[in-house]
Amino acid sequence: MDTLTPRKTALIVHAHPEPDAFSTAQMRVAAEELRRSGYVVEVVDLYADGWSPVLDRHEFEPVRGPFKPQAEQMRAVREGTLTGEVRAHLDSVLAADLLVLSFPMWWFSMPAILKGWIDRTFVMGALFGGDFGLFDRAALRGKRAMLLVTTGGSAESFSSGGAFGAMDDFLFHIHRGMLEFVGYEVLAPVVTYGPAHLTDAERRTALEAVRESFAAIGNGLVDEPALA
Ligand SMILES: Cc1cc2nc3c(=O)[nH]c(=O)nc-3n(C[C@H](O)[C@H](O)[C@H](O)COP(=O)(O)O)c2cc1C
Repeated sequence: MDTLTPRKTALIVHAHPEPDAFSTAQMRVAAEELRRSGYVVEVVDLYADGWSPVLDRHEFEPVRGPFKPQAEQMRAVREGTLTGEVRAHLDSVLAADLLVLSFPMWWFSMPAILKGWIDRTFVMGALFGGDFGLFDRAALRGKRAMLLVTTGGSAESFSSGGAFGAMDDFLFHIHRGMLEFVGYEVLAPVVTYGPAHLTDAERRTALEAVRESFAAIGNGLVDEPALA
């Protein structure tokens, strides 16, 4: 490996309460494969870390007047008073060339603990707004992000015309409203449909498919945007 070129970094933020879940297994495979292709990988395991998803006034005390969360985020960035915890997560986000959000689909979206990580870590004034704009003027332009997901429903139920409708429609609010919003180029998601309904052999095959996807991403073979 070329020792002069700085190594790429990936941040995987994982949100599953069970270390033995399929979702957690695919997160580990993703981390392994990115490391194998030369990435420096940081894994944030939100449940294991006891992450609090609640954005409230306590992390901005003293709050003068009515609590306006984004105004307080801007003030905290300006005055250098973000809490150590939020600052550390924000620094990890800023340092990472690739962000992977790893989660089981809950209520056609992400688990609350991960939504709350976005609420508290995607700080206004640091990633967008203030000195930055939105989308291609936001702070994370030039970086890539993607989702690593499991579902209860089958691939067929998540097709257009299927019982639920197209997966891309459910992920749009994350792809566009969270990731592209702060500047990321969003790669196509890696989704394992219904791991609970698979045999052990099928689960192993599904994990191998996740491994191949991340090998391709790690080796720069994937530039497929999630949104046209
Ligand atoms: C609170 C909750 C909400 C869920 N909502 C959905 C859903 O909207 N769509 C879906 O396909 N599966 C849903 N599921 C099922 C999970 O997505 C599924 O069990 C999980 O992805 C399987 O991966 P795991 O074995 O690693 O947990 C939900 C599960 C829970 C606990």
